[in-house]
Amino acid sequence: MSDSSIAGVLAALRGSFRARFEGAATEQALRDENAKILGKKGELTAILKQMGSIPADARKAVGEQVNAVRREVETAFEECLVALARAQREADLQAAPFDLSLPGREVAPLGHAHPISIVRDEIVDILVSLGFAVHDGPEVELEENNFTKLGFPPDHPATDMQDSFWVKVAGAPDDARTLLRTHTSNIQVRAMSSHEPPMAFIAPGTTYRRDDDATHSPMFHQIECFLVDRNVTMAHLKGVLGEFAERFFGAGTPVRLRPSYFPFVEPGAEVDVGCPFCKQPDGTRPGCGVCKRTGWIEILGCGMIHPVVFESCGIDPETWSGFALGMGLERVAVVRYGIPDMRLLFENDPRFLAQF
Ligand code: DAH
Repeated sequence: MSDSSIAGVLAALRGSFRARFEGAATEQALRDENAKILGKKGELTAILKQMGSIPADARKAVGEQVNAVRREVETAFEECLVALARAQREADLQAAPFDLSLPGREVAPLGHAHPISIVRDEIVDILVSLGFAVHDGPEVELEENNFTKLGFPPDHPATDMQDSFWVKVAGAPDDARTLLRTHTSNIQVRAMSSHEPPMAFIAPGTTYRRDDDATHSPMFHQIECFLVDRNVTMAHLKGVLGEFAERFFGAGTPVRLRPSYFPFVEPGAEVDVGCPFCKQPDGTRPGCGVCKRTGWIEILGCGMIHPVVFESCGIDPETWSGFALGMGLERVAVVRYGIPDMRLLFENDPRFLAQF
């Protein structure tokens, strides 16, 4: 390129760069335009690369011109950059204001405790407040803790009634029969075999029987409650039951005991509470579908701990006495919430569970 053609290119550039910069609508477009002039392959850079071919006497003057144009381009670029930012800020300020009063985006629902857990926690809270401590225990249990030491003879019909899941436990002695516990009453045996009286325990937990229909599930939950001390009577038992019914089912809920049989209590009873569903403002309960028109709903079994149980746990029944009760949590949840089919509790349908 001759020095005169360089001068021509420089003049053309000088006459056009400002309009090119001003025509850029965005910062990116402006930077692209700048790069076309000053970048590695830019127009002005190309001229600089030609400088060596210019005769020495003209080189200085051309160099000065090129540098002058370069400075003008750089200044214009900075000015346009500032102008673009200012225009953007102005547009933001003029735009419709951000509405702080708009409702927030909905957070995905977190879920909540299962109805069985809700009633379990409530019952535990009530009984703990009465002075009972929580006692844990295994779901895979020895036959002797689940049945034998509770006074079930080997051929007792209750072992049929509580048709069991028998399991083999690796490494267990051949004569140690094991099963999934059929009730939480095993904790009576475990606590009484490892603690000196007096004692007052509750034991919530999972239990298993080979049953499956609208009112029985093969896996279900119970809470056991028992107290061992001197001179314990049915009155203590009834006091705890009455307090529990008042607090769990509501003030004024009546309790009645019906004689019944369980091998590990004597006397034994089943407990009904006044049906919460047909309760009238005057306190009467004329009967409804839930209580099968009786006004009463059965919720648990109970009684005075049988001397045989004390003896099998190494406790002297002449000195010590006690009461025990065992409650089905599904049963209580069904009564509490008016659930028509117990199996709903285990289907995990969110449309059902969301209602609690
Ligand atoms: N274990 C009994 C059952 O599962 C319930 C029961 C009845 C527990 C009487 C007790 C009791 O502690 O005294 O059917």
